[in-house]
Amino acid sequence: MFAPEVYKNRRNALRSKVSDGIILITGNTDTPMNYPANIFHFRQDSNFLYFFGLDHPGFAGIIDENGESIVFGNDVDIEDIIWMGPQPSVSDLAAKVAVSKTYLFAELGKYLSDKVKQGVTVHFLPQYRSENKVMLSEMLGIPMIGLKEVASIELIKGVVALRSIKEPCEIEEIRKACKIGWEMHTTAMRMAQPGIYEREIAGAIEGIALSHGGMLSFPAIVSQNGETLHNHCHANQLKEGRMLLVDAGAETSTHYASDNTRTFPSTRKFTQKQKEIYQIVLNANLKSTEATLPGVLYRDIHKIACLEVTQGLKDLGLMKGDVQEAVEAGAHAMFFPHGLGHMMGLDVHDMEDLGENYVGYDEEIKRSDQFGLAYLRLGRRLQPGFVLTNEPGIYFIPALIEKWKAEKINDAFINFERVAEYIDFGGIRIEDDILITQSGHEVFGPAIPKEINDIENFS
Ligand code: GLY
Ligand code: MN
Repeated sequence: MFAPEVYKNRRNALRSKVSDGIILITGNTDTPMNYPANIFHFRQDSNFLYFFGLDHPGFAGIIDENGESIVFGNDVDIEDIIWMGPQPSVSDLAAKVAVSKTYLFAELGKYLSDKVKQGVTVHFLPQYRSENKVMLSEMLGIPMIGLKEVASIELIKGVVALRSIKEPCEIEEIRKACKIGWEMHTTAMRMAQPGIYEREIAGAIEGIALSHGGMLSFPAIVSQNGETLHNHCHANQLKEGRMLLVDAGAETSTHYASDNTRTFPSTRKFTQKQKEIYQIVLNANLKSTEATLPGVLYRDIHKIACLEVTQGLKDLGLMKGDVQEAVEAGAHAMFFPHGLGHMMGLDVHDMEDLGENYVGYDEEIKRSDQFGLAYLRLGRRLQPGFVLTNEPGIYFIPALIEKWKAEKINDAFINFERVAEYIDFGGIRIEDDILITQSGHEVFGPAIPKEINDIENFS
């Protein structure tokens, strides 16, 4: 948790970005797993964490018309104390985030309906948890299905403007998350060997995240089948000749994320074929990162990675024709179907709950609907203080290759006969976390090995 003024300043800044009405920021509740008292690990809403800082279930925050903040929440009773131990009072907690006015949570409904009756606009954000959807629907008298349409665009834009530029205290937290991520990834590299199960590595690296007081920033991807982009199956035994893709990050105890991917042979010795594809992805990672600078359109940086992938695959005979034209046509997307990167902060895909297009696009640049480019979450011009990932990849996805071949999609640029030799290759992704500075960028460390020599010689 940061100093109380950090939260107060953020709320004041948000108030100045929303012209009228009141601002409601909902916190999360505990969510049952298989019966009410057996709950999923609690994760507070990131917007609530950002503006109201309290990492407890059952809270909501209001910034009223005059800029005064109110925390809604309930003090524990003796039964709660028996099961949970002594807990701080709501007013003690609120004081930690510079809020002096607190109400019982049950009063939120009446507070909001009174405001609605007075004709005051209630600005709220898009909701992603059913519990909060039901609550808001009942309190505001809006059908659940219609909540998304009436979420406040002015508030979304205000929150995105603030959360996109990381404060020094946030950058320090991300540094800590990356350090934990380094420990996770280097542990995975050390553990990998033919015969071990993916789940053994997945369990060990999750344990590292937990041991630092936080958790994973998203369910880890630890897979020999790296061609499946978000593969959460960890059931396979590592085989000689396969590569293991580990895409994982940690959250600090304050919930700031890291997100790195490394791909390496289970023996740590690359075959020639693996070296060739790996080096193309590494070149795309390095070249795109070199260009990741303030003032540059991120979509153009994505394109640098696409050109590098296309040139490399052409040199190997898997693609053909003019490289620029191939990328314009989206032919590379059979091998690299996702975007180069995304914003990162309190969420690993930062603010994705608010709408990807509000976070990654703006008046200057709109999202493309071309296959591949459409998955690019971030397209807009980079600013100092942004934190993002660069994560190019090359994947041989049998179903996608079959489909493109059968439908002759981009066959002017793809040598399907040669691609067939790679059908069971798997996938490679190399991902780093990057801060945009005033004059350049900083790749968050400690550096996780990614050069071929460094991986082969890592011990
Ligand atoms: N590292 C997982 C993702 O960015 O989707
Ligand atoms: Mn990522």
